[in-house]
Amino acid sequence: MSKAKVIAFANQKGGVAKTTTTLNLAVAFGEEGHRVLCVDMDPQGNLTMSQGIDPDTLERSMYDVLVHQLSIREVIRKREVDIACASIDLAGAEIALAATIGRERALERALNPVREDYDFICIDTPPSLGLLTINALTAADKVIVPVQCEYLSMRGLVQLQNTLAMVRENLNPKVDIQGIVPTLVDSRTIHAKEAIEILEENFGSRVFASRIRKTVRFAEAPVKGMSVLRYDPKGSAAKAYRDLAKEVINGRS
Ligand SMILES: Nc1ncnc2c1ncn2[C@@H]1O[C@H](COP(=O)(O)OP(=O)(O)O)[C@@H](O)[C@H]1O
Ligand SMILES: [Mg+2]
Repeated sequence: MSKAKVIAFANQKGGVAKTTTTLNLAVAFGEEGHRVLCVDMDPQGNLTMSQGIDPDTLERSMYDVLVHQLSIREVIRKREVDIACASIDLAGAEIALAATIGRERALERALNPVREDYDFICIDTPPSLGLLTINALTAADKVIVPVQCEYLSMRGLVQLQNTLAMVRENLNPKVDIQGIVPTLVDSRTIHAKEAIEILEENFGSRVFASRIRKTVRFAEAPVKGMSVLRYDPKGSAAKAYRDLAKEVINGRS
């Protein structure tokens, strides 16, 4: 059995569509016949909520997996894809892990036993470059970086690249950016066009060809506990993530 490809979705800026991209890309992989696990590494639990699961009702969550070595299978719920759920107590994991040996490898260790059960493992991360995100980057083969084109921050991307270089040097030599996804693109504005041009000047072919445009569907779907692919299967938003999935699967190694 081959092992899952592990993809972390990271950008320390909030509101750039990390969670939206993690879920919808994961569902698009699923539509292509792949077995997919999503892991919620954000204490806000937005990924968990976006599949209709109330984090406050969870007895066990990723906190117990990371801190108490509970099997990750115990916190996986089957929805459109499998979801390893998080709740607010995950916020305490950074402190609980801080003094432990191998604190950066807690997630990698947790995923090892299930890597043959899936083709893709998609990890959603919180808006910081703290220990939870470091755990995701250490467990990952590839990183996908959603970037909001309206408030493009090159400095933010440089910081992320520096953190990734540190992870590569000390923890996970193979990890690399698979691609940058322009999200929340408002194609009517000149600003968005310019922002994408700047992105391509700096990152060249690492910018995916797919663009995720702004649409209210992305706000509506999570309220119903659905991905956009299920909420509006024929819509352009769903198509954008299906196209991105094809790029990830076929395009780059
Ligand atoms: N393409 C889009 N068009 C419009 N709204 C979007 C789009 N993608 C995400 N959103 C909305 O933007 C907000 C932030 O997205 P989210 O995925 O939670 O970002 P992050 O995880 O980076 O904080 C959410 O309310 C989400 O519904
Ligand atoms: Mg999020």
